[in-house]
Amino acid sequence: MNLFKLQRLIMTALLLASTGFSSVWANVHYAHYAAVAMPDKYSAQVAKQILQQGGNAVDAAVASAFVLAVTYPEAGNLGGGGFMTLYTPKIVVPNSPTDKDAENNALNVHFLDYREQAPLAASQDMYLDDNNQVIPYKSLVGYQASGVPGTVMGLWQVHQRFASLAWQTLLQPAIELAQNGFEVSSQLADRSQWFKRWIADKSSTPLNFESYFGGLKVGQVLKQPELAKTLKRIAKQGAEDFYLGETAKMMVKQLQKHDGLITLQDLAGYQAKWRKPVVGEWLGYQVVSAPPPSSGGIAIVQLLKMKQQLVDKLDKALLQARKSGLSETTIKTHFYAELEKRVYADRAHFLGDPDFIDVPVDKLISDEYLRERGQGVLLDEISESELIKPGKIELPETTHFSIVDAQGNAVSNTYTLNMPFGSGVVIEGAGFLMNDEMDDFSTKPGVANVFGVVGGQANAIAPRKRMLSSMSPTILLKDGQVQMVVGTPGGSTIITSVFQTIVNVVEERMSAQQAVDAPRVHHQLLPKDLIAYNPDLPDQVKQELELMGYSLKKNNYMGDVQLLVNTDKAWQAASDNRGEGVAWVFEVDTPTSRP
Ligand code: DON
Repeated sequence: MNLFKLQRLIMTALLLASTGFSSVWANVHYAHYAAVAMPDKYSAQVAKQILQQGGNAVDAAVASAFVLAVTYPEAGNLGGGGFMTLYTPKIVVPNSPTDKDAENNALNVHFLDYREQAPLAASQDMYLDDNNQVIPYKSLVGYQASGVPGTVMGLWQVHQRFASLAWQTLLQPAIELAQNGFEVSSQLADRSQWFKRWIADKSSTPLNFESYFGGLKVGQVLKQPELAKTLKRIAKQGAEDFYLGETAKMMVKQLQKHDGLITLQDLAGYQAKWRKPVVGEWLGYQVVSAPPPSSGGIAIVQLLKMKQQLVDKLDKALLQARKSGLSETTIKTHFYAELEKRVYADRAHFLGDPDFIDVPVDKLISDEYLRERGQGVLLDEISESELIKPGKIELPETTHFSIVDAQGNAVSNTYTLNMPFGSGVVIEGAGFLMNDEMDDFSTKPGVANVFGVVGGQANAIAPRKRMLSSMSPTILLKDGQVQMVVGTPGGSTIITSVFQTIVNVVEERMSAQQAVDAPRVHHQLLPKDLIAYNPDLPDQVKQELELMGYSLKKNNYMGDVQLLVNTDKAWQAASDNRGEGVAWVFEVDTPTSRP
């Protein structure tokens, strides 16, 4: 008999002796551990509270996502969209009719795409002028920059399928924070000041951002009565209010008064979609991540697998480096850049909304394809990339959270308005910001978006199409147990941040906190031979990379990773020191987890 069974027998015998047979289970509580890594203290508190009152990971995720729409208005949202990766071994529910993939249901892994989609009135050239030139910032700021929001529908659909607590209960914390207010952090105050200045000359139509969020001061209590009313309506009527009801009407009224495109028909037609997640086998793990319309899952699996396939080549180069006094970090950074330029080239060419184009997912992550792709990787010099007009990375903002409950269910969720505070348009009377996700489409082939990434026909604008994303909520499984829950904001750097965090834990054997805080490097094919880093690299590494021909740039912002790691003995939870996140591991008294 194993130790666990023996312990259980003894406990049961003791209980039988003390309580009498019939009431045994009613009195037994089993303490287990849950873990959360959240982007702010309010969402962390609410996630913990929901888990401690018996909610599962999905309940905690829904409640936290609504809280962040109040306390983290730069990225938490009602007017944006996102992706959720789930592992639900302990939530028994019937298969959804829209979840077509029986194989993934058997694995208990699921992926919900609640990405925004282009309005019906959108068209491929909508951001080009008469000379076929991109009109600066039109896809990024103001009324035409928004896709049809997906967040409320996503949270509604995941709640219907997997939650255990009532919808109203889960909205209550957000309603209270909107009504009673919360304290503005220095991060929020700084970002709102920056955004106010940034949009000042970028829209032909006046924007109302300033009257809602323009004058935020550190420590001030921000109350949002209009948002509180909207949340109350959503609590009462569910997603229907947002897509068909009063909130839908407010949204359309204001957008149509200006030059916005979203109509009641667009809102009524919006659905979140259950999709087959990308599942890649790597070093005995199943890496479960985001499929198209995200590029993240494919890219991360490509990076991990190619790294593994080329490990001998890398080891030789590292040995050589040690002999000749070169820094190992230089070799690794260059090696990552070589892998990443191939991955971002695939992204630009093949990826887009799978409801509109065929994305060869299986091929792109197959061992044979990647072996061929990795053949040209050079360890001693830079492979050639084509010169295409570079884009600019400004100050982006998205937000991610990671949750595991005491039963072993996990949620990895990334959602966004795109830029901090989205398009700068607040829906009057409803108090929430609209996204500027249309910029994630390829507005013109070869022209970079705000993150500097390019695309072609696969990611061209079309009515009802979803724009390509880099968001990569990811879960690593081994033998049916969650080993890691990870994700981050950061636009195109999301992919390389998640990749390096996974490598830091699994291969470099770092603790969760070391893994998220470690310096990260990033290369995305274009701008040519540019490596971004954060927070810093040793001088020797910089000099050596420059000698190889790279140019280097400190990226002031490179993600805000929220990581949970299962170390066999205990959970480790870590929030990136680049942000203001809060991570906790805590006991949950869970009568439902009886043996
Ligand atoms: O979906 C995407 O890839 C982008 N809209 C994400 C934006 C983002 O991460 C901004 N963040 N820091």
